[in-house]
Formats: sequence, C-alpha cells, structure tokens
Amino acid sequence: MQCDYFDAGLCRSCTLMGVPYGEQLAAKEAHCREQLAAHEGITWLPAVASAERGFRNKAKMVVGGTVDAPTLGILDAAGHGVDLQRCGVCDPGLHAAFPALVDFIRLARIQPYDVPARRGELKHLLVTISPDGELMVRFVLRSQESLSRIRKHLATLLAALPNLVVASVNLQPEHKAVLEGADEIVLTERQTMRMRVNDVELGLRSRSFFQTNTPIAAALYAQAREWVAETAPASVWDLYCGVGGFALHLAAPGREVVGIETSAEAVRTAERSAAEAGLPGTRFLADDATAFALASTVPPELVLVNPPRRGIGTALAEWLERSGVERVVYSSCNAVTLGRDLRSMPSLRPTRARVLDMFPQTNHYEAITLLERA
Ligand SMILES: C[S@@+](CC[C@H](N)C(=O)[O-])C[C@H]1O[C@@H](n2cnc3c(N)ncnc32)[C@H](O)[C@@H]1O
Repeated sequence: MQCDYFDAGLCRSCTLMGVPYGEQLAAKEAHCREQLAAHEGITWLPAVASAERGFRNKAKMVVGGTVDAPTLGILDAAGHGVDLQRCGVCDPGLHAAFPALVDFIRLARIQPYDVPARRGELKHLLVTISPDGELMVRFVLRSQESLSRIRKHLATLLAALPNLVVASVNLQPEHKAVLEGADEIVLTERQTMRMRVNDVELGLRSRSFFQTNTPIAAALYAQAREWVAETAPASVWDLYCGVGGFALHLAAPGREVVGIETSAEAVRTAERSAAEAGLPGTRFLADDATAFALASTVPPELVLVNPPRRGIGTALAEWLERSGVERVVYSSCNAVTLGRDLRSMPSLRPTRARVLDMFPQTNHYEAITLLERA
C-alpha cells in the first residue's frame, strides 16, 4: 500500500507501509512459527489475509491546531498537530465523518489542547464505525469547560451525521500521554452501538475493547466456533471476554458458557447481547481471569483465552496445566507471550494454529491455536 503521509515523512505509525502485502503476511506467519518452534506436529492453517487498506473500524485522532483550523491525526516531535484525515488504513466511513467533526469543533468552540503550552481542551477524537455504518464519537477533553456548548450544538452534529448513534465526552484532566480518563459522560440517548459480526449481534459501549478489524474478528470467532464444535463441549469458559465476541459465537443449546472480564461495562453489554439473543446458558462475570480460575471448583470442558498483549501469565497457565481441561483455544495478539505461556503448560500441546492479519501495515497480528492435552 502507498501512503502520501508516510512518503512525506509526516506519519510513521504504519511501520510496514510500502512493503508488499504478501511479504508482510509471510513474515508474520514465519514469526509466529518461530515462537511455537518448540512444538512439533502443529498443523498450520493458511494465514487469513486482511484488506490492505480501510480495515480499521476505529480512528484515534489526536486533535491539534486551532479552534478555527483543527487538525485530526497525530502530533509531531514538537507537539504540534499533523492532519491525517485521509489515513488510508481507516474505514472510508470514518473519512466521511471527519469534516463534520471538524465543523463541530469550530461551531462549539472546543479549543484543541496545545501540549507544549498545556492549554486548551480537546485532546482526542475517538471514532468507531460499526459494520452497518453506525458511528460512535467520543470527545476526550481536559475539563468540562466546553461541555455545555457541546450539548447545545449536538443536534447540529447529529443532523450532519445521521449515522451517529452514540456520542460521549471522556474527561482526561492530566497532562500525560494517555488516551482517555476514567469519567465518561454519554450525550446521546443510546449508550450502545450494535456490532454485527457473522450471525452474532454484539454491543459496544464507549470504553469497552473491540477488535479493530471487523472482518478479521469475524474470521477469528468463526475459527474458534469451528474448533469448539468438533467436540461439542457442555461447558466453556471465555476468559478475557470483552463484550463477549467469542462467548456469543460459542453459545449452543445445552451448553453452558461463562465469560470473564475485568471491565464491568463490557460485562453488562455482553449480558444484554446474550439476553437479546435468547441465550440463557451464557453468563458473564466481572472478575480477574486468573482469580476466577483459581477459585473455581469444577473446571469446564473447554477454556478459551484471549488476553491482552502481556499474555495469560504463569499462574493461569499453571492452573490450566493441572486443571485436567482437555482442550484450550488460545487467541493471542502477541505470539511472543503466547510462546512463553505455552512453556508453562507442557501437557497442553498446540495441534493447530493460524495467523489472522488483524493489523496490516504493522508487525502486529493475531494468532489462534488449539491446544490439546497430550
Ligand atoms: C484482547 S481483549 C479481548 C476481548 C474479547 N475477547 C474480544 O474478542 O473482543 C482483552 C480483554 O481482557 C480484559 N482484561 C484485561 N485484564 C484482564 C484480567 N486480568 N482478567 C479478565 N479480563 C481482563 C480487557 O478489558 C479486554 O477486554
């Protein structure tokens, strides 16, 4: 893929920009195979390719410039805004929304935050698009200074973007490089955006995690569903379940599915999706995945884990090792920690594995592997 911003040296976020896509995918699979090289006899399914461009369902735009000429993109080395509204990895529906958001910043006089001067209000715009073209927009602000003006002019924004279904303000008062703060003020009647993935309706609230590449997420959940269906377990845990993407794909008549996740907001959303889908056997609990497993008395027949980049860690891996669970599905966005976690559970051997390219133009990717007790 070619990118004018990259070629002009304005943005280097996509570290593999310009590298032919086939080479990127081959290198990712080679890297994954390296991390699992200690394990013999793995059947590698063909890597799942992504669209090279327009695949990101979420734009995290740093706001810079002035209230009359805001930039949406990143900050340069001096802390000044660089406009990246045509960023090619973003879904075209996000590009289409940016001009109306810029107009709204002007209308509501929301001063972009000036990092070097430590002045201003609007730090980031976080915009997510659903597979049906609905939008969620979050304004990350230093304080509530502009909140009443945002409320006052919101109807104009909603008229300009009729597909905008959830809008919120997030307060991030500190002068440090974090994306968002703890306080969220939802401005619209709706708090949840529906995310249709395969035949499953997921919900997304402002602060919950969602896989950034929806078609690849669909392939990932479908892969897990296929492997789980082979043995039709009566009980399944989905650890690190987020808004329930895996759990809701694995729900089946007569099967008990339990999703565990630290974010109470994500758990509430997952519970609602399960209720709306009529899945009484699917439950969600806000808990630490390791604490939940260690406190349990009866392990399920199958465990699926999908941890953050740090992996599941030694305590949970050792619990899985001694749990007697026959099959584990491990979905990982960091094959290095996946390889490390596997060393702590030698009885659970990876028998099948697949790379899915969740993050084209970067070195990152998702890997899913089926572990079976030897
Ligand atoms: C990579 S995301 C996966 C989410 C989900 N499986 C999906 O497909 O959207 C990891 C999730 O783990 C959650 N998490 C982080 N630490 C956790 C912990 N110690 N116990 C349980 N969940 C945790 C995060 O909030 C996040 O939702």
